[in-house]
Amino acid sequence: MLHKIASRPPRLWGAWLHFSHCRRLSTVEVLGRSYPKDKFTNITPSILSKLPTQLYTRPGHPLNTLKTTIEAHFPDYAHFSNLPALVSTYQNFDSLSFPADHPGRSATDSYYVNKDLMLRTHTSAHEVEVFCDGHKKWLLTADVYRRDEIDSSHYPVFHQMEGARLFSDDLNVSGDALARENTRLFSELSSEHVVLEDRTLVDSKNPYQEHHNKQLADLVTQNLKYTLSLLLFKLFAQAADPSSEAPLQIRWIPAYFPFTTPSYEVEVFFRHKWLEILGCGVIQQATLTNAKVSNEIGWAFGLGLERIAMILYKIPDIRLFWSEDLRFLSQFKPGEISTFQPYSRYPATERDISFWCPNDFHSNDFCDIVRDEAGDLAEEVQLIDQYHDKRKQGYVMSRCFRIRFRSMERSMEHAEINKIVITIKKRASEALRVEIR
Ligand code: PHE
Repeated sequence: MLHKIASRPPRLWGAWLHFSHCRRLSTVEVLGRSYPKDKFTNITPSILSKLPTQLYTRPGHPLNTLKTTIEAHFPDYAHFSNLPALVSTYQNFDSLSFPADHPGRSATDSYYVNKDLMLRTHTSAHEVEVFCDGHKKWLLTADVYRRDEIDSSHYPVFHQMEGARLFSDDLNVSGDALARENTRLFSELSSEHVVLEDRTLVDSKNPYQEHHNKQLADLVTQNLKYTLSLLLFKLFAQAADPSSEAPLQIRWIPAYFPFTTPSYEVEVFFRHKWLEILGCGVIQQATLTNAKVSNEIGWAFGLGLERIAMILYKIPDIRLFWSEDLRFLSQFKPGEISTFQPYSRYPATERDISFWCPNDFHSNDFCDIVRDEAGDLAEEVQLIDQYHDKRKQGYVMSRCFRIRFRSMERSMEHAEINKIVITIKKRASEALRVEIR
């Protein structure tokens, strides 16, 4: 046999039945423990089934290779990759100074177990506890969860790496050593075939923190820029077209995060496009105070592993990371970043579903039902039409979604898709109060 096609039964039924059962019980089981449900609960069986997977621990998997390559760039940092995905809303948001009305807190964007507990939406959720444990240089890898659309670059579970470093906030203590290190990093960078473009003036929109010594904040910012530019050079230069003479271009642009200031986004010019690669900045003092390390100053960054792996390996669809197909898995060698060799795809089937929507309809709720019923067979959900119509009780919105189904691993029967579509319609009418047209 040329390749083994993992034939799996429809994966989510078992989990869904269990979940419906729990629905009546008013508790939800997450990683073997029961938690009370409330009106915030929106975690689904298909999401729960992803929690134990830890893709990034599988030797040879592109996410594992990328993780170990990044870890190798930070040899004297503590490396964490085992922190549970279930966090408090305090960890995910409040400890990081997210305002009360930040959109990320909304149940349409995040997965809640109940009003106090959620699946982390980013690795920054662990900053306070890791600093609190006394770590001053660390990297952390984890699965993170966001409710989103369904297409080739969005998946409700993805992986991030967070890195951070602290220094004494006394210029007399850390200033000289930091200045020397920055000189060394700068000369290392200057010897590489790389062009740094820095559009980041520190100004009132992206300020230093009031209580920071400006000279020290400047040294910390420089250290962040040189450290991450060297990391990006290491990652991207090896994947660049060897025949290209052009230097790698990296640009720094101002950004905003509630838990850093100044804050930056870093972009790399790669295969003819500017690509956004990571977010970072100087850690807000409030985070350090929450972690009881208020006499420190430091930087943090967070990056999405799938995003970078898709670019470096030329992986065209984010669902492939979850594939058990040997045509995918056997392509990669541990520690080696190589170009993905596409193999023949099974045909896609599209189905349109139209309905009248109540005012509080949100497409992420619909996408979660699709994900739950179709699993990774759902390739894309696209809103193809919407309009207002005057009906009995005023204006209502009609929406039509086109769902594209395609298995990565086998061909599908029409009957199988029909069955999934019927269940999606049924659940959408019950749970979202839409009226199927
Ligand atoms: N947590 C941010 C995100 O998910 C990234 C980030 C990490 C930004 C650390 C600044 C500092 O987008």
